Amino acid sequence: MAARASIILAAGQGTRMKSNLPKVMHEVGGRPMIDWAIELAKSAGCERIVVVLSPMQTELQARIRARLGDGSVAIQSEPLGTGHAALAAKDALQGFEGSAIVQFGDTPLIPPEPVEALFKAVEARPAIGVLGFEAAHAGAYGRLIETEDGQLSAIVEAKDATPEQRSVTLCNSGVMAARASDMFRLLAQVRNDNAKGEYYLTDLVALGAVEGVPSTVVRCNEADTLGVNSRAQLAEAEASFQSRMRQEALDRGVTLTCPETVFFNYDTQVETDVVIEPNVVFGAGVEVRSGARIRAFSHLEGAIVSSGCEVGPYARLRPGTVLEERAKIGNFVEVKKTRVGAGAKANHLAYLGDGEIGAGANIGAGTIFCNYDGFFKHKTIIGAGAFVGSNSALVAPVSIGNGAYIGSGSVITKDVDADALSVARSGQIEKSGWGHAFREKMSARKAETKM
Ligand code: UD1
Ligand code: CA
Repeated sequence: MAARASIILAAGQGTRMKSNLPKVMHEVGGRPMIDWAIELAKSAGCERIVVVLSPMQTELQARIRARLGDGSVAIQSEPLGTGHAALAAKDALQGFEGSAIVQFGDTPLIPPEPVEALFKAVEARPAIGVLGFEAAHAGAYGRLIETEDGQLSAIVEAKDATPEQRSVTLCNSGVMAARASDMFRLLAQVRNDNAKGEYYLTDLVALGAVEGVPSTVVRCNEADTLGVNSRAQLAEAEASFQSRMRQEALDRGVTLTCPETVFFNYDTQVETDVVIEPNVVFGAGVEVRSGARIRAFSHLEGAIVSSGCEVGPYARLRPGTVLEERAKIGNFVEVKKTRVGAGAKANHLAYLGDGEIGAGANIGAGTIFCNYDGFFKHKTIIGAGAFVGSNSALVAPVSIGNGAYIGSGSVITKDVDADALSVARSGQIEKSGWGHAFREKMSARKAETKM
């Protein structure tokens, strides 16, 4: 395969986001938009990725360099337009001889297929590939102008378009591809004598036509090219991402009782025959294996849920949770950094943090793993088949042997042997007739005060 590169434009100010965070660091599906663009480039096999940033975006520059290495950042000195921005990547791609795609850093939903098609189109012969779409409301988009025989002859920005051109509904997504040599040669010819006074990347099409480099359109859906300029569009992109994830889950054989109330992260893995009840939220890093059931109103993050497990309703799984086969985590149970053995249960109201729970153990309602002393975290280890009575506080570091019993209401501070019973609460006392005597004494006292 011919060498491929990607130039990701992200030097714009993003002022309409009204944010201290760079626009492209805002997340869709739990992943910064810039990472969506980078992953798309990687999935197309781009061996070189250059992100174009402004001189002000120093933190972002450092982040990109840390992730993609030196030479992955190009600085656009001033925001003079998309053509100017793309040209800023020239030095970084010095000596690169394959094809290059230009993407925008704020367009997170583009699927891999049209990008592959764009590369193929320009690899087959010298050409300029443009990702276009039929717009419901063409608005401010650049219009793709075709000749009578269907050749793309120019892209005209809305502000520069004649009324006739403005009536065209085939629009520019912003993504373009060309052989790197063609791209940089033509970019150097772009002028800014237009309505915005900017150097337009889109001028490549008309400039290419003059030199005999034809342009070709690859089409995609409008929803896939949504560019995020505001918080409202960020929410729109999120909604679009979520509905895509829900549809994919349904197609894969996952039951979603009420799909529109389930929220996925970009990396959520849910196998066939999982049932997800309404109002479930997935944070980063969750894997749910076949046959598990996630009941309503649960929040999962950084957790592995094995086959046959049941989680919720109202459960919270935090990072480092591993539920082995058929484990059950019930209502108002929070689990963090804890492995719950096969068939073990914590059915109600518990905090299980920094622990290991053996197979078949039963954790009673109200059990707390007291894992934190204000400075360090400590481990709680519970043996297979152990039974922890309700409302017990297990003060870590502590371990409970296999098959041991903990009496309800215990505060356990020392290790418990296998098969032992440990009760750590004050003994029960009983005074017979005390209630009656108390009432007599108190009513007499009250009668005295009334006299
Ligand atoms: C661009 C296209 C338009 C297309 C639309 C799709 C051009 C001239 N126009 O218009 O045809 O329909 O996208 O959304 O390309 N950027 C820089 N430096 C700059 C200017 C922009 O890095 O000097 C970056 C921005 O951060 C942004 C991207 O390029 O990620 C697009 O810029 P924007 O100004 O939003 O382009 P549009 O006017 O929307
Ligand atoms: Ca835009």
